[in-house]
Amino acid sequence: MKRLIYLALSLALLFACTSCVGKAAVLPAEAVPTAAQPPEPEEVPEEEPPAPPEPEEPYVRVIDPAKPMVALTFDDGPDTACSDQILDILEEHHALATLFEVGRNVAACPEPVGRMVELGCEVGSHSNAHKDLSKLRKSSLLRDLDTADEAFVLAGAPAPLLVRPPYGAVNKTVKPATGRAMVTWTVDTEDWRSRDAQKVIDYVQSYGALDGEIILMHSIYESTVEAVRVLVPWLQEQGYQLVTVTELMAYYYGELPQPDHFYGYTY
Ligand code: NI
Repeated sequence: MKRLIYLALSLALLFACTSCVGKAAVLPAEAVPTAAQPPEPEEVPEEEPPAPPEPEEPYVRVIDPAKPMVALTFDDGPDTACSDQILDILEEHHALATLFEVGRNVAACPEPVGRMVELGCEVGSHSNAHKDLSKLRKSSLLRDLDTADEAFVLAGAPAPLLVRPPYGAVNKTVKPATGRAMVTWTVDTEDWRSRDAQKVIDYVQSYGALDGEIILMHSIYESTVEAVRVLVPWLQEQGYQLVTVTELMAYYYGELPQPDHFYGYTY
């Protein structure tokens, strides 16, 4: 009988231990150490992808014949330092101008001429050697203008119809016999004389009505670049459209430049 009791107790003990071991082996999930597992990535709120930038509207240039207009003109370039600065200002303000360039300068510094054409500026001739054309024989005069044209074409501009005679000097030969259109100016800033940006600015700003005027400057002076930096936005704020000489002739004077004609516009 005693042996039976021992056996029963032993069995009970063994069962209890077994169930203990079983319980210990089956740990609840939350008790399993998790240190070895990578932390759950934090939920990142999904952001809207940035909208693609609005495509920039292409600038469309329209000349309104009913609105006032001015032609800015620059002589004596191209200049390695100043021409591109003036073109930068014109480009920034969607303004055009006419540049009467000296042929031999074009041959030495052709790059700005290609850019002028690209921007839509008008490239005119200011002769090849900046001589007083009225003092040349007709053959020398024509040779000078033809040599300049070769430089313009090599630089990427068409041979100009418009010629601004150096010093505005014309005579009976220069006016009607070159196959080109001679054109001068109406407002002389004398920027070459003062070399003072403020004087040029003051002169233009106090000139009065500028509708239909052709303003003369020179694209070879830093002072002129600084004046243009002020005058281009100022003229536009005053309501002036900045046009080329041919555009001014067409829209303001109602005529297109013709070969062997002189346009002084001082009448
Ligand atoms: Ni000149």
